[in-house]
Amino acid sequence: MTDISQENSAIRARWQTCLKLARELLLVGPDDKDLKLGYLHTLIDTGHLGPTRHPRKKILVIGAGITGLVTGRLLKDAGHDVTVLEANAGRVGGRIKTFRTTEHQQPFADPAQYAEAGAMRLPDFHPLVLALVDKLGLGRRQFYNVDVDPSTGSGPDVPVPPVTYTSFTGRTWTYGDDSPDFREPDKRGNSWIRANRVQVRRADYTTGPERINEEFHLTDDEVRAPVVKMVDDALESVRDYYSDIVDGKRVNKPFDEWVEGWARVIRDFDGYSMGGFLRDHAGLSDEAIEAVGTLENMSSRLHLSFFHSFLSRSDINPAVRYWEIPGGSWRLPHALHQGLRDEVRFGQRMIRLEYHDPSRDTDPEGTGAVGPDGWGVAVQTVAEDDPQAPPRLWTADLAIVTIPFSALRFVEIVPSMSYKKRRAIIETHYDQATKVLLEFSHRWWEFTEDDWRSELENIAPGLYEYYRLGADADAGPTRVTLPQPEAGLLGAAVKDSGVTEEMRRLNSTLPLRGPAVRPATHCFGGGSAADNPNRFMYYPSHRVEGSTGGVVLASYCWSDDAARWDAMPDAERYVYALRNLQALHGRRIEVFFSGRGATQSWARDPYAFGEAAIYTAHQMTSFHLDVSRPEGPVHFAGEHTSLKHAWIEGALESAVRAAVAVHQAPPVTTPGPDRKEYAS
Ligand code: FAD
Ligand code: ARG
Repeated sequence: MTDISQENSAIRARWQTCLKLARELLLVGPDDKDLKLGYLHTLIDTGHLGPTRHPRKKILVIGAGITGLVTGRLLKDAGHDVTVLEANAGRVGGRIKTFRTTEHQQPFADPAQYAEAGAMRLPDFHPLVLALVDKLGLGRRQFYNVDVDPSTGSGPDVPVPPVTYTSFTGRTWTYGDDSPDFREPDKRGNSWIRANRVQVRRADYTTGPERINEEFHLTDDEVRAPVVKMVDDALESVRDYYSDIVDGKRVNKPFDEWVEGWARVIRDFDGYSMGGFLRDHAGLSDEAIEAVGTLENMSSRLHLSFFHSFLSRSDINPAVRYWEIPGGSWRLPHALHQGLRDEVRFGQRMIRLEYHDPSRDTDPEGTGAVGPDGWGVAVQTVAEDDPQAPPRLWTADLAIVTIPFSALRFVEIVPSMSYKKRRAIIETHYDQATKVLLEFSHRWWEFTEDDWRSELENIAPGLYEYYRLGADADAGPTRVTLPQPEAGLLGAAVKDSGVTEEMRRLNSTLPLRGPAVRPATHCFGGGSAADNPNRFMYYPSHRVEGSTGGVVLASYCWSDDAARWDAMPDAERYVYALRNLQALHGRRIEVFFSGRGATQSWARDPYAFGEAAIYTAHQMTSFHLDVSRPEGPVHFAGEHTSLKHAWIEGALESAVRAAVAVHQAPPVTTPGPDRKEYAS
């Protein structure tokens, strides 16, 4: 027999969890204050943590990603004694990483070229990161998720608009000056969608989705709807929980209903995967889900939580405006590091964390330890750049651990943490993300057909016709005199190309993919989607000054799509990625390949152990509330502790939250005769 009172209390407890999660998701703090406004005030308006009764504490920050750097800067500026321990031997920034020329490396043939291994786009509605970029004077310009007409828009001389944030309290926060003359360029949609051997331009798919949709075996109404509309329609009933449609626009319900509405969404849907939701709740056919998955970058995420894709639908969405940092995203962590030169200790990987939690008076491990040598925390590190060096010990009153839980999983923690924290460290799902970047000597994706003709004829008279005739017709290469005949066509336009013998060999053994010529893409920024292994391709939004070429993000994959690449050695990836790019753009692009590329598998990164925390069904309700809860003197921050997983904005929210908490916290231990001092 079911015990009704027990069942009711379980339901009540679950509802309380959902309410708390909704408040955390919406950043509603105590007294219904908007936490985001507080974070903006601290990080941007004042740049200071304010007064505290416990001014100078010794603090260890573990990890010099964006979270560690921001939290470290705030605490240092507030007068604390801060040390930041970073495993990487020579780089701050973690998952903000740009492939670029430095004194140690030159990833691309053209030293001016650079490309993002990690974060590349900053959405308009992420005010902390945008305002931080502006405050640090890094400049910003648009990142085009959809390709644009470059002859439109106000151009680079008109300042960008200010950063604004409209709070649920009704207050609008602004940083920067108005720029009434700023105009975005018009979206064009010249990039490609290719699936089931059918290829159309994005703009054409929007107005006539049937050709693509039919190949997914869609019928009836489904065949006539672009997949983005299918997903949006499917999500409407969920949006109804917390908002109403007024004059054709979504408007949040009054505050209490809005928060409760989100809590009900969490209660009703956290147990769904996105695939399960689309099938069982929204009633989409299997084929429609296959189409949505393929074109909306969801197939690799259908098994992951409904919530992740639901939230990111409002992020990565054609209607959203994005920004990027000229010169590369690395400039953001680099600028923050300038104020922490002495505090960041490189090459120090935490392998053990010991702490004393005075609220736990027992010693469950039976180790007999009461506080590591009289300190709140003691961290042991190994030197990444010197395997012979003995481990080092670092002690402090408090610590902020900002490393991903996937990395923390390999750290010995004494005493073990609370039950739910342990579950979260063990179970938090980290997605995979892999990028393959290829450098080209010319920006062929911007070419018109006339440009193609003149550029190919420039390389060798007859080359344009040679490709147009199919590249293998009798009129073939014998009639075309190549500048470097022995090198063949791969990299033919590139003086001293980096195409290796291995690449040529692999290239010549692979079956041809696609015809020699496809219509000129003529596309500025934006990206194409395909069902071949590259999946998502992005063209640079801006030219690199003084350079004729550019780097294409030939493949940006998540989850299973990424895992396929992760199994392949780097050198082979470039050839395969080029092949798959050729399938959409024609084989002729090969002549501009510089032979140089860069690739990043985040699941194979020794300090990230994955791309980002992306929950599976049930994980948010099971343990998210415990993720950021301090364990005695140990505090937690980082992208994974926020509910903006896989975004810098979430990392920044967590950085300010943790800095404020640590600034206000009393030191756990007071110096006494037992306390040992370590030189660090
Ligand atoms: P990290 O950047 O991971 O920092 C943790 C630091 O800890 C690292 O420096 C690491 O080396 C160090 N560390 C790890 N283990 C140890 C140890 N044992 N001891 C000491 N140090 C250690 N966000 C956006 O806003 N826009 C985007 O376009 C975007 N795209 C992305 C694309 C990809 C492929 C990826 C991977 C991420 C992307 N993100 C994007 C997300 C964004 O990069 C992250 O959310 C953010 O950088 C995370 O910062 P963090 O400080 O929480 O973690
Ligand atoms: N911020 C990331 C980007 O802009 C989003 C990554 C989402 N990742 C995922 N595996 N779903 O690309």
